[in-house]
Amino acid sequence: MGARIIGVGQAVPDRVVTNADFEAYLDTSDTWITERTGIRERRFGGTTSSLAIEAGRRAIADAGLTPGDIDFLVLSTTTPDQTVPATSAEVSHQLGTRGGAMDLNAACAGYVYALVVARGMIASGAHRVLVIGSDTLSRITDQNDRSTAVLFADGAGAVVMERADEDDLLGWDLGVDGAARPILYCDHGGYMYMEGREVFKRAVRVMVESSETAMKQAGVNADDIALLVPHQANLRIIQAANERLGISLDRTAVVLDRYGNTSSGSIPLALADAVAQGRLHPGDHVLFTGFGAGMTWASAVWRWAR
Ligand SMILES: CC(C)(COP(=O)(O)OP(=O)(O)OC[C@H]1O[C@@H](n2cnc3c(N)ncnc32)[C@H](O)[C@@H]1OP(=O)(O)O)[C@@H](O)C(=O)NCCC(=O)NCCS
Repeated sequence: MGARIIGVGQAVPDRVVTNADFEAYLDTSDTWITERTGIRERRFGGTTSSLAIEAGRRAIADAGLTPGDIDFLVLSTTTPDQTVPATSAEVSHQLGTRGGAMDLNAACAGYVYALVVARGMIASGAHRVLVIGSDTLSRITDQNDRSTAVLFADGAGAVVMERADEDDLLGWDLGVDGAARPILYCDHGGYMYMEGREVFKRAVRVMVESSETAMKQAGVNADDIALLVPHQANLRIIQAANERLGISLDRTAVVLDRYGNTSSGSIPLALADAVAQGRLHPGDHVLFTGFGAGMTWASAVWRWAR
Protein backbone atom coordinates (compact mmCIF):
# COMPACT_ATOMS: atom_id res chain seq x y z
CA MET A 1 0.00 0.00 0.00
CA GLY A 2 1.23 3.46 -0.90
CA ALA A 3 0.22 6.88 -2.19
CA ARG A 4 0.47 8.87 -5.38
CA ILE A 5 -0.24 12.48 -6.34
CA ILE A 6 -3.05 12.74 -8.89
CA GLY A 7 -3.92 16.44 -9.09
CA VAL A 8 -2.39 19.88 -8.54
CA GLY A 9 -3.79 23.39 -8.23
CA GLN A 10 -2.74 26.88 -7.25
CA ALA A 11 -4.23 30.28 -6.41
CA VAL A 12 -2.79 33.76 -6.00
CA PRO A 13 -4.51 37.10 -5.34
CA ASP A 14 -5.08 39.44 -8.32
CA ARG A 15 -3.17 42.41 -6.88
CA VAL A 16 0.40 42.54 -8.19
CA VAL A 17 2.91 44.47 -6.06
CA THR A 18 6.10 45.27 -7.96
CA ASN A 19 9.51 46.31 -6.64
CA ALA A 20 8.75 49.77 -8.04
CA ASP A 21 5.76 49.97 -5.69
CA PHE A 22 8.16 49.63 -2.70
CA GLU A 23 10.63 52.07 -4.28
CA ALA A 24 7.86 54.66 -4.22
CA TYR A 25 7.69 54.81 -0.40
CA LEU A 26 10.62 52.85 1.11
CA ASP A 27 14.39 53.38 1.09
CA THR A 28 14.92 50.50 -1.33
CA SER A 29 15.37 49.87 -5.05
CA ASP A 30 14.36 47.40 -7.72
CA THR A 31 18.07 46.66 -8.25
CA TRP A 32 18.68 45.84 -4.55
CA ILE A 33 15.61 43.61 -4.27
CA THR A 34 16.25 41.79 -7.56
CA GLU A 35 19.97 41.24 -6.96
CA ARG A 36 19.69 40.24 -3.27
CA THR A 37 16.52 38.15 -3.48
CA GLY A 38 15.53 37.39 -7.09
CA ILE A 39 12.01 38.73 -6.40
CA ARG A 40 10.53 41.08 -9.02
CA GLU A 41 6.89 41.09 -7.99
CA ARG A 42 4.51 39.38 -5.59
CA ARG A 43 0.77 39.15 -4.89
CA PHE A 44 -1.09 40.66 -1.93
CA GLY A 45 -4.70 39.98 -0.99
CA GLY A 46 -7.35 37.43 -0.12
CA THR A 47 -7.56 35.38 3.03
CA THR A 48 -5.80 32.15 3.85
CA SER A 49 -9.10 30.26 3.49
CA SER A 50 -10.16 31.94 0.23
CA LEU A 51 -6.82 31.15 -1.45
CA ALA A 52 -6.85 27.62 0.00
CA ILE A 53 -10.37 26.99 -1.31
CA GLU A 54 -9.46 28.14 -4.82
CA ALA A 55 -6.25 26.09 -4.92
CA GLY A 56 -8.03 23.06 -3.45
CA ARG A 57 -10.92 23.28 -5.93
CA ARG A 58 -8.46 23.38 -8.83
CA ALA A 59 -6.46 20.40 -7.53
CA ILE A 60 -9.66 18.35 -7.12
CA ALA A 61 -10.80 19.26 -10.65
CA ASP A 62 -7.32 18.48 -12.01
CA ALA A 63 -7.58 15.02 -10.43
CA GLY A 64 -10.95 14.53 -12.20
CA LEU A 65 -12.72 14.26 -8.85
CA THR A 66 -15.42 16.08 -6.91
CA PRO A 67 -14.98 17.37 -3.32
CA GLY A 68 -17.09 14.48 -1.99
CA ASP A 69 -14.32 12.10 -3.14
CA ILE A 70 -11.92 13.64 -0.60
CA ASP A 71 -11.96 11.97 2.81
CA PHE A 72 -9.32 14.02 4.63
CA LEU A 73 -7.95 17.56 4.38
CA VAL A 74 -4.61 18.85 5.64
CA LEU A 75 -4.06 22.61 5.46
CA SER A 76 -0.52 23.79 6.04
CA THR A 77 -0.57 27.40 7.18
CA THR A 78 1.20 29.76 9.53
CA THR A 79 -1.39 32.53 9.01
CA PRO A 80 -4.77 31.01 9.94
CA ASP A 81 -7.78 33.29 9.46
CA GLN A 82 -8.60 32.98 13.18
CA THR A 83 -6.95 31.43 16.23
CA VAL A 84 -10.06 29.27 16.67
CA PRO A 85 -11.45 27.43 14.77
CA ALA A 86 -8.85 25.92 12.45
CA THR A 87 -8.99 27.47 8.96
CA SER A 88 -9.28 23.98 7.48
CA ALA A 89 -12.81 23.76 8.95
CA GLU A 90 -13.97 26.66 6.75
CA VAL A 91 -12.06 25.31 3.75
CA SER A 92 -13.64 21.87 4.15
CA HIS A 93 -17.10 23.44 4.57
CA GLN A 94 -16.81 25.68 1.50
CA LEU A 95 -15.37 22.91 -0.67
CA GLY A 96 -17.67 20.16 0.62
CA THR A 97 -14.99 17.61 1.46
CA ARG A 98 -15.82 14.61 3.68
CA GLY A 99 -14.02 13.28 6.74
CA GLY A 100 -11.65 15.18 8.97
CA ALA A 101 -9.76 18.40 8.38
CA MET A 102 -6.87 19.92 10.27
CA ASP A 103 -4.39 22.78 10.18
CA LEU A 104 -0.68 22.05 10.39
CA ASN A 105 1.90 24.70 11.24
CA ALA A 106 5.57 24.04 10.58
CA ALA A 107 6.12 27.52 9.10
CA CYS A 108 7.67 27.59 5.62
CA ALA A 109 8.66 23.90 5.85
CA GLY A 110 5.00 23.11 6.54
CA TYR A 111 3.97 21.94 3.10
CA VAL A 112 6.51 19.11 3.02
CA TYR A 113 5.46 18.18 6.58
CA ALA A 114 1.87 18.11 5.27
CA LEU A 115 2.76 15.78 2.39
CA VAL A 116 4.34 13.31 4.82
CA VAL A 117 1.43 13.58 7.28
CA ALA A 118 -1.07 13.04 4.43
CA ARG A 119 0.84 9.91 3.40
CA GLY A 120 0.50 8.78 7.03
CA MET A 121 -3.27 9.37 6.90
CA ILE A 122 -3.43 7.14 3.84
CA ALA A 123 -1.52 4.46 5.77
CA SER A 124 -4.17 4.86 8.49
CA GLY A 125 -7.06 4.24 6.08
CA ALA A 126 -7.86 7.48 4.23
CA HIS A 127 -8.35 7.10 0.47
CA ARG A 128 -7.93 10.59 -0.92
CA VAL A 129 -6.33 13.43 0.98
CA LEU A 130 -6.39 17.05 -0.14
CA VAL A 131 -3.10 18.67 0.89
CA ILE A 132 -3.21 22.46 0.74
CA GLY A 133 -0.56 25.05 1.60
CA SER A 134 -1.91 28.58 1.97
CA ASP A 135 -0.53 31.71 3.60
CA THR A 136 -1.22 35.43 3.67
CA LEU A 137 2.07 36.71 5.06
CA SER A 138 1.41 40.29 3.93
CA ARG A 139 -1.04 40.53 6.88
CA ILE A 140 1.71 39.88 9.45
CA THR A 141 4.48 41.86 7.75
CA ASP A 142 5.26 45.50 8.58
CA GLN A 143 4.95 47.14 5.16
CA ASN A 144 7.22 49.94 6.39
CA ASP A 145 10.09 47.56 7.25
CA ARG A 146 12.16 47.25 4.07
CA SER A 147 14.01 44.16 5.31
CA THR A 148 10.83 42.02 5.38
CA ALA A 149 8.18 43.89 3.34
CA VAL A 150 9.80 43.09 0.00
CA LEU A 151 10.03 39.36 0.76
CA PHE A 152 6.75 38.07 2.18
CA ALA A 153 3.56 37.63 0.16
CA ASP A 154 0.30 35.69 -0.28
CA GLY A 155 -0.50 32.52 -2.23
CA ALA A 156 -1.63 28.91 -2.11
CA GLY A 157 -1.15 25.56 -3.79
CA ALA A 158 -2.60 22.08 -3.38
CA VAL A 159 -2.32 18.45 -4.40
CA VAL A 160 -4.68 15.50 -4.21
CA MET A 161 -3.01 12.38 -2.84
CA GLU A 162 -4.61 9.00 -3.46
CA ARG A 163 -4.10 5.52 -2.03
CA ALA A 164 -2.23 3.28 -4.52
CA ASP A 165 -0.60 -0.13 -4.70
CA GLU A 166 2.86 1.34 -5.18
CA ASP A 167 4.30 4.02 -2.94
CA ASP A 168 5.53 7.20 -4.63
CA LEU A 169 6.89 8.67 -1.38
CA LEU A 170 10.38 7.20 -1.61
CA GLY A 171 12.14 8.99 1.24
CA TRP A 172 11.63 11.88 3.64
CA ASP A 173 13.27 13.86 6.41
CA LEU A 174 11.60 16.23 8.87
CA GLY A 175 13.38 18.23 11.54
CA VAL A 176 13.17 21.12 13.97
CA ASP A 177 15.54 23.14 16.14
CA GLY A 178 13.51 25.23 18.58
CA ALA A 179 16.68 26.90 19.87
CA ALA A 180 16.63 28.97 16.65
CA ARG A 181 13.26 30.55 17.47
CA PRO A 182 14.74 34.05 18.15
CA ILE A 183 16.06 34.48 14.58
CA LEU A 184 12.64 34.32 12.91
CA TYR A 185 9.30 34.80 14.63
CA CYS A 186 6.03 36.70 14.81
CA ASP A 187 4.22 37.27 18.13
CA HIS A 188 0.41 37.27 18.34
CA GLY A 189 -0.76 40.57 16.89
CA GLY A 190 2.79 41.51 15.86
CA TYR A 191 4.90 41.53 12.70
CA MET A 192 7.53 39.20 11.29
CA TYR A 193 10.97 39.65 12.84
CA MET A 194 13.95 38.15 11.04
CA GLU A 195 17.73 38.09 11.32
CA GLY A 196 18.18 37.72 7.59
CA ARG A 197 21.85 36.75 7.38
CA GLU A 198 21.58 34.12 10.11
CA VAL A 199 18.44 32.63 8.54
CA PHE A 200 20.18 32.59 5.16
CA LYS A 201 23.22 30.64 6.45
CA ARG A 202 21.16 28.08 8.34
CA ALA A 203 18.65 27.72 5.50
CA VAL A 204 21.28 26.59 3.01
CA ARG A 205 22.79 24.13 5.51
CA VAL A 206 19.53 22.50 6.59
CA MET A 207 18.09 22.28 3.07
CA VAL A 208 21.20 20.52 1.81
CA GLU A 209 21.55 18.13 4.78
CA SER A 210 17.83 17.32 4.80
CA SER A 211 17.72 16.77 1.01
CA GLU A 212 20.70 14.43 1.27
CA THR A 213 19.01 12.45 4.05
CA ALA A 214 15.78 12.11 2.05
CA MET A 215 17.65 11.09 -1.11
CA LYS A 216 19.67 8.50 0.80
CA GLN A 217 16.50 7.02 2.26
CA ALA A 218 14.97 6.96 -1.24
CA GLY A 219 18.06 5.25 -2.67
CA VAL A 220 18.62 7.99 -5.24
CA ASN A 221 21.30 10.62 -5.80
CA ALA A 222 21.31 14.16 -7.18
CA ASP A 223 21.66 12.93 -10.78
CA ASP A 224 18.39 11.00 -10.42
CA ILE A 225 16.41 14.11 -9.48
CA ALA A 226 14.44 15.40 -12.47
CA LEU A 227 13.15 18.42 -10.59
CA LEU A 228 14.06 20.13 -7.32
CA VAL A 229 11.10 22.03 -5.85
CA PRO A 230 12.57 24.18 -3.06
CA HIS A 231 10.94 26.64 -0.70
CA GLN A 232 10.89 30.00 -2.48
CA ALA A 233 12.52 32.47 -0.07
CA ASN A 234 15.54 33.86 -1.89
CA LEU A 235 17.08 32.93 -5.25
CA ARG A 236 20.56 33.09 -3.71
CA ILE A 237 19.55 30.51 -1.09
CA ILE A 238 18.24 28.25 -3.85
CA GLN A 239 21.42 28.70 -5.93
CA ALA A 240 23.67 27.98 -2.94
CA ALA A 241 21.69 24.79 -2.21
CA ASN A 242 21.80 23.87 -5.93
CA GLU A 243 25.58 24.14 -5.96
CA ARG A 244 26.11 22.06 -2.84
CA LEU A 245 23.60 19.40 -3.92
CA GLY A 246 24.86 19.24 -7.51
CA ILE A 247 21.45 19.99 -9.01
CA SER A 248 21.49 22.68 -11.70
CA LEU A 249 19.09 25.59 -11.83
CA ASP A 250 17.51 24.21 -15.02
CA ARG A 251 16.36 21.21 -12.93
CA THR A 252 14.87 23.53 -10.30
CA ALA A 253 11.39 25.05 -10.03
CA VAL A 254 11.58 28.79 -9.37
CA VAL A 255 8.53 31.07 -9.09
CA LEU A 256 9.74 33.52 -6.46
CA ASP A 257 10.45 36.15 -9.12
CA ARG A 258 6.66 36.34 -9.61
CA TYR A 259 5.28 35.42 -6.19
CA GLY A 260 7.92 36.17 -3.50
CA ASN A 261 7.92 34.09 -0.32
CA THR A 262 4.42 32.70 0.24
CA SER A 263 5.47 30.31 3.08
CA SER A 264 3.28 27.18 2.89
CA GLY A 265 2.07 28.24 -0.54
CA SER A 266 5.52 28.40 -2.10
CA ILE A 267 6.35 24.73 -2.75
CA PRO A 268 2.93 23.70 -4.16
CA LEU A 269 2.83 26.93 -6.22
CA ALA A 270 6.22 26.04 -7.72
CA LEU A 271 5.05 22.45 -8.31
CA ALA A 272 1.83 23.56 -10.03
CA ASP A 273 3.83 25.93 -12.23
CA ALA A 274 6.26 23.15 -13.23
CA VAL A 275 3.36 20.81 -14.04
CA ALA A 276 1.64 23.51 -16.13
CA GLN A 277 4.89 23.94 -18.09
CA GLY A 278 5.11 20.20 -18.78
CA ARG A 279 8.35 19.87 -16.81
CA LEU A 280 7.34 16.61 -15.08
CA HIS A 281 6.82 13.18 -16.64
CA PRO A 282 5.63 9.85 -15.22
CA GLY A 283 8.41 8.16 -13.28
CA ASP A 284 10.40 11.36 -12.66
CA HIS A 285 11.91 11.83 -9.23
CA VAL A 286 10.91 15.11 -7.56
CA LEU A 287 12.78 16.44 -4.53
CA PHE A 288 10.82 18.83 -2.31
CA THR A 289 12.82 20.74 0.29
CA GLY A 290 11.92 23.56 2.64
CA PHE A 291 12.96 25.43 5.77
CA GLY A 292 11.24 27.94 7.98
CA ALA A 293 10.76 29.54 11.37
CA GLY A 294 11.29 27.21 14.29
CA MET A 295 13.67 26.51 12.79
CA THR A 296 12.00 23.72 10.83
CA TRP A 297 13.18 21.83 7.77
CA ALA A 298 11.68 19.11 5.60
CA SER A 299 12.51 17.19 2.45
CA ALA A 300 10.78 14.44 0.49
CA VAL A 301 11.53 12.46 -2.66
CA TRP A 302 8.43 11.58 -4.69
CA ARG A 303 8.07 9.57 -7.85
CA TRP A 304 5.82 11.55 -10.20
CA ALA A 305 2.81 9.44 -11.17
CA ARG A 306 1.07 11.41 -13.88
C1 LIG B 1 16.95 39.40 3.93
C2 LIG B 1 18.05 39.24 2.91
C3 LIG B 1 17.50 39.35 1.51
C4 LIG B 1 19.07 40.37 3.11
O1 LIG B 1 20.11 40.23 2.20
P1 LIG B 1 21.63 40.33 2.73
O2 LIG B 1 22.47 40.28 1.52
O3 LIG B 1 21.81 39.26 3.76
O4 LIG B 1 21.65 41.75 3.34
P2 LIG B 1 21.92 42.17 4.86
O5 LIG B 1 20.84 41.67 5.75
O6 LIG B 1 23.33 41.80 5.19
O7 LIG B 1 21.77 43.72 4.72
C5 LIG B 1 22.66 44.48 3.93
C6 LIG B 1 22.17 45.91 3.94
O8 LIG B 1 20.99 46.01 3.13
C7 LIG B 1 19.99 46.70 3.85
N1 LIG B 1 18.66 46.27 3.39
C8 LIG B 1 17.86 45.34 3.92
N2 LIG B 1 16.73 45.28 3.21
C9 LIG B 1 16.83 46.18 2.22
C10 LIG B 1 16.00 46.57 1.16
N3 LIG B 1 14.78 46.01 0.94
N4 LIG B 1 16.45 47.54 0.32
C11 LIG B 1 17.64 48.11 0.48
N5 LIG B 1 18.47 47.77 1.47
C12 LIG B 1 18.08 46.82 2.33
C13 LIG B 1 20.26 46.37 5.30
O9 LIG B 1 19.67 47.33 6.15
C14 LIG B 1 21.76 46.40 5.33
O10 LIG B 1 22.16 47.73 5.44
P3 LIG B 1 23.43 48.12 6.35
O11 LIG B 1 24.58 47.39 5.75
O12 LIG B 1 23.48 49.60 6.19
O13 LIG B 1 23.09 47.67 7.74
C15 LIG B 1 18.79 37.89 3.08
O14 LIG B 1 19.55 37.89 4.26
C16 LIG B 1 17.83 36.75 3.14
O15 LIG B 1 17.14 36.45 2.20
N6 LIG B 1 17.82 36.01 4.28
C17 LIG B 1 16.97 34.88 4.45
C18 LIG B 1 15.55 35.33 4.58
C19 LIG B 1 14.59 34.19 4.50
O16 LIG B 1 14.79 33.25 3.82
N7 LIG B 1 13.49 34.35 5.22
C20 LIG B 1 12.40 33.47 5.17
C21 LIG B 1 12.61 32.22 5.91
S1 LIG B 1 11.28 31.14 5.59
